[in-house]
Amino acid sequence: MQNYADNMRDFVEKHATGLAVALVAGVSALALRRWMSGGVCRSRVRLDGKTVLITGANCGIGKETALDMANRGAKVIMACRDMTKARIAADEIRQQSGNGNVVVKKLDLASLQSVRDLAKEIQENEERLDILINNAGIMFCPKWETEDGFEMQFGVNHLGHFLLTNTLLDLLKKSTPSRIVNVSSTAHEKGRIHFEDINLDKDYDPYTSYRQSKLANVLFSRELASRLKDTGVTVYSLHPGVIRTELGRHLFPTLAMWKRIVAAAVMTFVKSPWEGAQTTLHCAIDESLANSSGLYYSDCAPKEPAPQALDDAAAKRLWDLSASMVGLA
Ligand SMILES: NC(=O)c1ccc[n+]([C@@H]2O[C@H](COP(=O)([O-])OP(=O)(O)OC[C@H]3O[C@@H](n4cnc5c(N)ncnc54)[C@H](OP(=O)(O)O)[C@@H]3O)[C@@H](O)[C@H]2O)c1
Repeated sequence: MQNYADNMRDFVEKHATGLAVALVAGVSALALRRWMSGGVCRSRVRLDGKTVLITGANCGIGKETALDMANRGAKVIMACRDMTKARIAADEIRQQSGNGNVVVKKLDLASLQSVRDLAKEIQENEERLDILINNAGIMFCPKWETEDGFEMQFGVNHLGHFLLTNTLLDLLKKSTPSRIVNVSSTAHEKGRIHFEDINLDKDYDPYTSYRQSKLANVLFSRELASRLKDTGVTVYSLHPGVIRTELGRHLFPTLAMWKRIVAAAVMTFVKSPWEGAQTTLHCAIDESLANSSGLYYSDCAPKEPAPQALDDAAAKRLWDLSASMVGLA
């Protein structure tokens, strides 16, 4: 025993600097991980008898959000484009939550017809819609077009959700108090709306396009909240954090190998999908937000968005442009 203690003391004395560096690095890594994990939705509210529709719920943040809603007793409608993936995810959610009232519906946000079809089915078959979560998203894809000829990221992230929300508004108004949650991103901060070339035909850049679409999410929320004032339907937009999901699927294959290795290392520190779903849940259910509308949130707290996201004239102009693009004008 004495020998062991002597050996340990020798070892610590010889490697004091290395051990100190390792300790500081370990504590810093833990502190960084803790800081990255962000806020937690503390609401214990039950959602029995309520209906929630979540777009893009077969993986990532959407799936975690669906699981939480199912745990709270809601009827959960998972609106997804890949029915095979969606059915597998729904089975897992039903099993984990013990809630059999989890259904899958087809929704391809890159097709206005698909959006109209889903909205029609919901209007005809659902008695109520208490929470609409516009979560689905595509990031940094090449210059692709939606079925209707719109630039893909703007078309899916903004226009599809714009049409879906507007066509479900009557049901949401019938189910008040009801909420609409738009999942945006901190990427909106570097965005601008290219009114003169909304599909970025002249100079496509995947980053510019994603930022534009995420700014559109915040501006849409702001204008929608103002139009829904005093109706009992409230609106929220948010940045969920940086999360380990499949969102980077179009980016990673384009990166050099060393960048992929660095990215994989960084990914170990970012939020898990459960952590990433917390701000969405906070906006969708937290009782303290019942009378707030039109604000932007991050880490389960209100946050001032970028100045261009507070531009009411741009929000109105975007609304009019979007309405004419999706045939609602
Ligand atoms: N992850 C992050 O770090 C991060 C940061 C900021 C903001 N966000 C936002 O968070 C939201 C959720 O993203 P995530 O991180 O959970 O990514 P994800 O794991 O890639 O999930 C995205 C979901 O959107 C669906 N989707 C994509 N295109 C669609 C379309 N045309 N029609 C219907 N659904 C479609 C996907 O379906 P498929 O599986 O069939 O493709 C998937 O279910 C997005 O709006 C994203 O912009 C994420």
